[in-house]
Amino acid sequence: MNIKMLAALALILSVSYAAWTLFIGPSKAGEDATSIIIPEFSQAAQTGQIAFEESCAACHGINAAGTENGPTFLHAFYKAGHHGDSAFVNAAKNGVRAHHWRFGNMPPVEGVTDDELLLIIKYVRELQVANGY
Ligand code: HEC
Repeated sequence: MNIKMLAALALILSVSYAAWTLFIGPSKAGEDATSIIIPEFSQAAQTGQIAFEESCAACHGINAAGTENGPTFLHAFYKAGHHGDSAFVNAAKNGVRAHHWRFGNMPPVEGVTDDELLLIIKYVRELQVANGY
């Protein structure tokens, strides 16, 4: 193989890698945490954030950015029109069988009250809206 062929091969590889990351996305679990827009939360959402960080962030991440254990909520899947508020209540109470991702099942969340869940939903919705979801 001569140097021109090598150069052509390198070019093809880098172009296809760039195209792959554009279309498939880089192989990370969550939203790029540094690009998340943090809005001025309502009082309810601020309280919700505390509950979220206690009960949900271990898997769904700080700022709902996602982790290795669970998806980000800043994703078209979780827009209010696709996953309504009842999906959040159900998820916390009954857990979720893995279907959108490969993180595995979400177990039911212990020790989160109905009131806290409503505030958590408020927090997630305000974060989603601020980020265009
Ligand atoms: C132990 C990890 C873990 C914790 C803690 C956790 N989740 Fe999840 N959650 C997951 C995983 C994993 C999924 C993705 C399942 C799939 O669709 O593949 C998920 C999915 C969801 C969904 C989508 C449900 C659906 O119908 O597709 C909602 C809503 C949700 N979680 C809400 C919450 C809330 C609210 C909390 C905190 C009260 C929470 N989760 C805590 C792991 C977790």
